[in-house]
Amino acid sequence: EKGGFATFMDKEIAEQPAAVADTLRGHFDGTRIVLDEQRLGEDELRTIDKVFVVACGSAYHSGLVAKYAIEHWTRLPVEVELASEFRYRDPVLDRDTLVVAVSQSGETADTLEAVRHARRQRARVLAVCNTNGSQIPRESDAVVYTHAGPEVGVASTKAFLAQITANYLVGLALAQARGTKYADEVARDFQALSEIPRAVEQTLELLEPVRELGRSIADSKAVLFLGRHVGFPVALEGALKLKELAYMHAEGFAAGELKHGPIALVEEGLPVVVVTPSPKSMPLLHSKLLSNIREVQARGARTIVIGEEGDDTIAPFADFLIELPRVPALLQPLVSTIPLQVLAAEIARTRGYDIDKPRNLAKSVTVE
Ligand code: BG6
Repeated sequence: EKGGFATFMDKEIAEQPAAVADTLRGHFDGTRIVLDEQRLGEDELRTIDKVFVVACGSAYHSGLVAKYAIEHWTRLPVEVELASEFRYRDPVLDRDTLVVAVSQSGETADTLEAVRHARRQRARVLAVCNTNGSQIPRESDAVVYTHAGPEVGVASTKAFLAQITANYLVGLALAQARGTKYADEVARDFQALSEIPRAVEQTLELLEPVRELGRSIADSKAVLFLGRHVGFPVALEGALKLKELAYMHAEGFAAGELKHGPIALVEEGLPVVVVTPSPKSMPLLHSKLLSNIREVQARGARTIVIGEEGDDTIAPFADFLIELPRVPALLQPLVSTIPLQVLAAEIARTRGYDIDKPRNLAKSVTVE
């Protein structure tokens, strides 16, 4: 059932091109983005004036990634909130608020309770979910199903990529309802998403050196992850994977925060993973990250840099360089997350841990 792979996680990492492609399938009719179960009219979508994404764990990170695209595309304010915090702080909700509840299982208690709270406050709820007929979509006004297929590994991989994809579809659906994007722009963005499975495939072919790297840093005490813009939530996800799988201290930071604290952690030999944006599409951010890489390298860090192929400005500062195919800036997390999944899995394997079933964790947490 693992289809020749050593673990479910390895299999699920390899299934990511299909997870993205299958999630896109059927959601564009040639002219418009189509959601799955839409008990919400286009006129209701049009009056939305604020979006919350609520979720836990990796699903929460998928929301943090999507915030950049949804705000950019729709000009709506988007807040991303941990489901376990959401209802305890009296969030400002009304019938023009859209709450996007992201959950692989559709059964996570924290997320379900956030949905119920939102509905009691008359907010509209849209579920992004991988499990047909589960509780969260049943209690929502609209659903976008991620078609990642069953995910057995406790640490989310293919479901995470599918969640980002589905969240982007929600952003495009809102943009088309609000008229902040013309039909041809929506079509172009959908086309760009459709090209991602190929880039994911190419990325998967580049990972043997990442596995070697994982083996060589498996005895580190800690690893830091840095990123900016959409690379920031990718850094958080990379750190979460390492905590979950390898029981290693790992933290993700916004690279701009480095000098406000985290740089004090940097010591000789500490592996620091830096997710850098494209120098072509994000030149300013790229140059800021370049400075961050130099800052940590100057303090003895072992720099592991995720960059875009052909970017030779970063090579001199990367002790280890992972070059990924060029994709549009907002879509980069769909490729840059993958080496971080593989790195965490390989470190965990080298340490002798069960990467499908990490200690103390459950696939679906149905208590608050
Ligand atoms: C955790 C899982 O318990 O729940 C994570 O270990 C997952 O992998 C998180 O991201 C949220 O789960 P779900 O099903 O709501 O997406």
